[in-house]
Amino acid sequence: MSFFNEIHERRRSASLKWDMMNEVYNLEDATNILPMWVADMDFPPPAAVSEALAERLKHPIFGYTFANSDVKDAIVHWYHTRHHWHIDPQTILFQPGVVPAIAAIIETFTSIGDKIGMSTPAYPPFFNVPAAQNREVITCNLTEQNGGYTLNFDTLEEIFRAGIKMFILCNPHNPAGIVWSREELERLVALCIQYDVYLLSDEIHADILIHKAYTPTLTVSNADKAKIIACIAPTKTFNIAGIHAAMIVAPNKALYTALEENAQAHGNLGLNIFACTAMKAVYTEGAAWLDELLLYLKNNMEYAAQELNAIEGISVNIPDATYLMWIDYRATGIEEKEMMDRLLSVGQVALDPGTKYGEAGRGFLRINVACPLDTLKDGVERIKRTLKSFH
Ligand SMILES: Cc1ncc(COP(=O)(O)O)c(C=O)c1O
Repeated sequence: MSFFNEIHERRRSASLKWDMMNEVYNLEDATNILPMWVADMDFPPPAAVSEALAERLKHPIFGYTFANSDVKDAIVHWYHTRHHWHIDPQTILFQPGVVPAIAAIIETFTSIGDKIGMSTPAYPPFFNVPAAQNREVITCNLTEQNGGYTLNFDTLEEIFRAGIKMFILCNPHNPAGIVWSREELERLVALCIQYDVYLLSDEIHADILIHKAYTPTLTVSNADKAKIIACIAPTKTFNIAGIHAAMIVAPNKALYTALEENAQAHGNLGLNIFACTAMKAVYTEGAAWLDELLLYLKNNMEYAAQELNAIEGISVNIPDATYLMWIDYRATGIEEKEMMDRLLSVGQVALDPGTKYGEAGRGFLRINVACPLDTLKDGVERIKRTLKSFH
């Protein structure tokens, strides 16, 4: 039996995904709701994680720590072997998460009232964090193409012309699962250079590649001439988000120094001892586990696409990357509120409503398929039951 087939009871484990649905979906009792929303997998990480943490726990003292050269070497080796990206360890700044990193980057390089651009649909903190810091968010829609999206350079240039100070990119893209091509990234970088705009590239989904290789934004032509800050992390890849670990990569020395000063201003001391331990474990021993995971996810996606596409009015593609699928139900004509109410009450399944990712997401649902196949089958049946109830 595949390691990934095993079902683990996660309720009452203080899991955001399983134990916070009452609050998130405004329900009285979510006991029977199957969660397929937040990007958190129902799989244990590689055994090396628990083994390394257990080993560390044998030492009874948990004093201040730091990411030593073993941790940094493991990170550098991982990105070099998997993505042909050579990261200079001197350009890494550790952060407790990518969202905190995004907040720090925005705070460091933009001021109150500055405009920050992004294409929608977009991961919600891309617009929530700047808004909370009193920055103005300017969006343009991605262009729909063959059931997926491409960057729309006409509308993109308009927001650059409107005077944005920073552009936030998701590479690979959440929620649509797109791996941007080297050409698209090069055009975007060229725009950033032309308009003197900072480029924040969130690459947290980089390792979850279903059927395409990804291009790290910092490796495209002229990246060294642009003001690019990338965010990477092992937390999506290995399902260790609760351990809190992420990295900013800023090869431009002036940008790196400014981010370091911001960290100092907030007393941000970097990683905790368990994050260092887990990070070293996954990046030195996690490759085989990840290869198996990717095959498992591909199979789950093929199953989900086949079943969901058979429902009238539903259309869904297998994404290039991520373990998320972006379901288009616009052809059913069902309103989002009605769809969400019925998914929760009739199907008893929790998906993300598309407008959580901006108005461009209206008529879409995001489903997380990173769960044992039996759980996915259950989820798909719940979605089918919901859709049937409209007839
Ligand atoms: C694009 C993207 N960035 C960041 C995060 C969260 O990062 P973290 O948990 O490290 O703050 C997610 C989680 O789903 C994500 O999809």
